[in-house]
Amino acid sequence: MSDIKKKKVKMLTYGCQMNFSDAERMTGELARIGYEETEDMNEADLIMINTCAVRETAEDKVYGKIGEIKGLKRQNPNLILGITGCMAQKEGEKLIKRAPHIDFVLGTNKIQQVVATVQALENEEARHIVDTAINEAEMPEDMAINRKTALSAWIPIMYGCNNFCTYCIVPYVRGRERSRLPEDIIAEIKEVVAQGFKEVTLLGQNVNSYGKDHKKATFAELLAMVDDIEGIERVRYMTSHPKDLSDEVIEVIKNSKHICTHFHLPVQYGSDNMLKRMNRVYTVAKYKETVRKIREAIPDCSLTTDLIVGFPGETEEDFQQLMEFIAEIRYDAAYTFIYSKRSGTPAAEMPDQIDDECKHQRLNRLMELQNKISLEINQSLEGKIMEVMVEGPSQNNEAVWSGRTSSNKLVLWNHGEEKIGDLINVRITQPQTWVLKGERV
Ligand code: SAH
Ligand code: SF4
Ligand code: F3S
Repeated sequence: MSDIKKKKVKMLTYGCQMNFSDAERMTGELARIGYEETEDMNEADLIMINTCAVRETAEDKVYGKIGEIKGLKRQNPNLILGITGCMAQKEGEKLIKRAPHIDFVLGTNKIQQVVATVQALENEEARHIVDTAINEAEMPEDMAINRKTALSAWIPIMYGCNNFCTYCIVPYVRGRERSRLPEDIIAEIKEVVAQGFKEVTLLGQNVNSYGKDHKKATFAELLAMVDDIEGIERVRYMTSHPKDLSDEVIEVIKNSKHICTHFHLPVQYGSDNMLKRMNRVYTVAKYKETVRKIREAIPDCSLTTDLIVGFPGETEEDFQQLMEFIAEIRYDAAYTFIYSKRSGTPAAEMPDQIDDECKHQRLNRLMELQNKISLEINQSLEGKIMEVMVEGPSQNNEAVWSGRTSSNKLVLWNHGEEKIGDLINVRITQPQTWVLKGERV
């Protein structure tokens, strides 16, 4: 290794955990040809923007960054700029037309090409490289991984999405569903446990359809296998599509020792009319039935969701139904989004697009209701002793540490002797909307 000149890569990642996982694999591979990671764009020899296309705001941020880097390239003509991720897949060649200082564009199924691409540019074999082909038979196995997290390791279990919700760009930029082999997943988890990780998060756009392609294991079977891995403390997974969350999955979680008691079950909307237009496949009644089963099996679980307001054709009546639904289900937390038009998706062509002011008003009304519910649920935890996995110092105060409960609640307490990764008990003394403050017992 000593004859390899050390170079620096700055990796900027936007979007979901799958993108963060892809980034760990790309920087892992780049380390093999001498690239060390840096946080400072100014000292980088290679800058990569690993992009998200799920909403327009995500894309705007990336265009902003691309513009910023133009000046750096003037100062350092050898600097290489690459765009990867979902916008790279979606825009391809067009990115370079718009910003010719971009050197390469690699699509979502090409992360394993990163080393060959960077080397070709270093050796001046090409001026620009664009590769956005999706060959679904190819999965990024056997890549080196430069894990960035300390506590919880990201483990992709499947790639792509087959659901084509009418608002969503993901199926177009991530290709069809394909599941990794159970043995490859288990081997990766054993490896991270041996490295000291106590928690894993299994990743996929719809983990409940895991294994429907290769039929080597269902998601329920995979969860049971992961739960049995020696040394694992906590298992999380995302995202779980309500349409095919099976009774077996609920049963496995109920009987497991390590699978977290947190269900993130994005409903997106609370009226049948809208669910149908969104192509979510389930009805409000079916969703409620799933929630009932979960809460019956695992009474102290937490439940969170994603919601979209301002989808085309949303009437005041639909919105009222959504508010009533939220009041009835009582989520622990909800990630609320304003509908963002994605060209190429069916919803972009639908009539009755909602104007911005109305979208914002509905978002505010929804958030107000949800925040009230989140606070009430958290207040009911006052005085309870909860098991927390220690994550480290909190954002604003070195002396106050944070961690999470199995139900994924963020807990803060005054730091004593505990170390990162410890499981400790905290008595909740000051519950708030987003965090629970407490004391170690
Ligand atoms: N596969 C996951 C979601 C991935 S995208 C699932 O089905 O649950 C994460 C969230 O972004 C979605 O749950 C949805 O709420 C939101 N989202 C997706 N497309 C959107 C759009 N066009 N506008 C606004 N929000 C969107
Ligand atoms: Fe998008 Fe729907 Fe697929 Fe989730 S399930 S990624 S929302 S198309
Ligand atoms: Fe964004 Fe792609 Fe993830 S569009 S949310 S980075 S799959």
